[in-house]
Amino acid sequence: MTSLASDPGASTSGQSRIEAPVADASGRLPRHIAIVMDGNGRWAQRRHRPRTFGHRAGAKAVRLCVRFCLERGIGSLTLFAFSSENWKRPKEEVGALMTLFLRSLDREVDELHANGVRLRFIGERADLSAAIRKRMDNAERLTCGNRALQLSIAISYGGRWDIVQACRALAREAAAGRLDPDAIDEAAFGARMGLSDLPEPDLFIRTGGDQRISNFLLWQMAYTELWFTETLWPDLDEAELQRAMAEFASRERRFGQVAAQCQEAGR
Ligand code: FPP
Repeated sequence: MTSLASDPGASTSGQSRIEAPVADASGRLPRHIAIVMDGNGRWAQRRHRPRTFGHRAGAKAVRLCVRFCLERGIGSLTLFAFSSENWKRPKEEVGALMTLFLRSLDREVDELHANGVRLRFIGERADLSAAIRKRMDNAERLTCGNRALQLSIAISYGGRWDIVQACRALAREAAAGRLDPDAIDEAAFGARMGLSDLPEPDLFIRTGGDQRISNFLLWQMAYTELWFTETLWPDLDEAELQRAMAEFASRERRFGQVAAQCQEAGR
């Protein structure tokens, strides 16, 4: 990754829910953006190239998004890199994507670290190769004290998988006698979901023209603002991201309340 923002942010031992850096005075920037990076295959096919060419081009847009968030103090960025369902793609494409993840980790982690980015991964690690798991563990260990940007990569991830693993954790604790089943509420459940220490996504972006969530952060996006664009992922640029920010700033978020209550609460 080249020329990211220079402010590395302060390190911290990082306990409980992480407070995102203050985004801007108006508070109208999202604290957490979640993205489905769709359209790599079509981008490549339009150029008469294999789909994997599009995935490689997509890595550039990942860098753009990281820099965009760092420059604006947007504290958390979560990218859907590979879904539980993507394992059903042709073997060659899955292999090429895994190679791309591995090489990207080798290439990018030091620079992300130098820029104060904390990297983490959510998803079913048991499905991944030992080589990728090792690099993921190393990257998480190296960057765990960073605060400038919480960058989460969802690999072999599904929102339903996330809910099931939280259920399993709760059931294990209950079976061991450490948890009273009647004490299970939304907070207890949410605490066992992925990214539970981050603010829930304020803004969901999907490129590529389809308007669906595709089993991304199902629990965490209950009140997330959704924004869709026809732009294919490798074509994403700063102007497009600015459009998403402008649209987000114009939305009235009520969280089930009436407008007057939200104004009173300063939301
Ligand atoms: C969806 O486009 C994209 C993916 C399944 C892979 C996303 C991976 C990258 C952007 C590569 C870089 C990522 C990291 C984290 C290094 P698609 O293949 O479904 O496109 P289509 O809808 O046009 O077929």
